[in-house]
Amino acid sequence: MINPSSPSPSPRVAVVTGANKGVGRAVAQQLADLGMTVYLGARDEERGRAAESELRAAGRDVRFLRLDVTDGSTVALAAKQIEEEYGRLDVLVNNAGISTPWRAPSQTPVDEVRRGFETNVVGCITVTNAMLPLLRRSDAARIVNISSVIGSLTAAAENHDPTGAFPDGGFPVILGYSLSKAAVNSLTIMYANELREEGILVNAVSPNWVPTDANDHSGILTLEQGAVMPVRMATLPDGGPTGTFTCSDHTGTGLDLPW
Ligand SMILES: NC(=O)c1ccc[n+]([C@@H]2O[C@H](COP(=O)([O-])OP(=O)(O)OC[C@H]3O[C@@H](n4cnc5c(N)ncnc54)[C@H](OP(=O)(O)O)[C@@H]3O)[C@@H](O)[C@H]2O)c1
Repeated sequence: MINPSSPSPSPRVAVVTGANKGVGRAVAQQLADLGMTVYLGARDEERGRAAESELRAAGRDVRFLRLDVTDGSTVALAAKQIEEEYGRLDVLVNNAGISTPWRAPSQTPVDEVRRGFETNVVGCITVTNAMLPLLRRSDAARIVNISSVIGSLTAAAENHDPTGAFPDGGFPVILGYSLSKAAVNSLTIMYANELREEGILVNAVSPNWVPTDANDHSGILTLEQGAVMPVRMATLPDGGPTGTFTCSDHTGTGLDLPW
């Protein structure tokens, strides 16, 4: 029986990095639609505030959080702000990412690889480590690392085209981006193993191929469909899977991906 005098349960608190557009914004929207308080991480205040006000217009509890994943001082300030406002964090979605141009490995400038790593890998680790003290105060913390099938070593091994171009039915090799997502998969397994005993579930999830600025708005799923598996992994029940690699699909069921 509901006791009308008991306080309502406090909403779950989530951070989504790179949430001013694309996949991150769609994930932030769906988490807020589930009743969560969502910090919308964005490195640019104007773009972050614009997305915040659009999502809040529909009554969602979405709050702009200045956060550049390559700038440790903004990450530390973001964690401090959440600590002061909520004292804990329930969900972290490491979504912020950049793509690098598609060219053969031998033609890839090494700086492109550095840039991909700095944002997609070092950024993910920086944010995770800064938010972990807050996640440890949650009774059901979940970490979702947004990855890509392009980071799959199995998919890369099956791609025999020496230029790294799309072979029929295969996946492209984009040295900077592919290596960074392979590293995201690897670090996902490491954090999942470290945090398993604490009940913190850590999973790598691909939205599949969805239209965003990063791919000239090409794709096979809508942004809403792409956000389904990241949101599911962000809202797993206790005892749910950890250390997995999955992607969204047309059916909404989701697919396991090969490492
Ligand atoms: N689209 C796909 O088909 C697809 C497939 C597989 C995986 N993914 C992954 O999905 C994630 C989101 O990509 P997207 O396709 O949605 O691309 P997008 O539309 O370009 O969005 C990328 C987001 O990351 C932000 N970002 C970039 N660098 C950042 C930094 N240093 N600090 C904070 N935020 C930063 C961007 O902010 P600004 O607006 O300020 O640039 C933007 O909000 C990425 O991890 C990507 O690898 C996408």
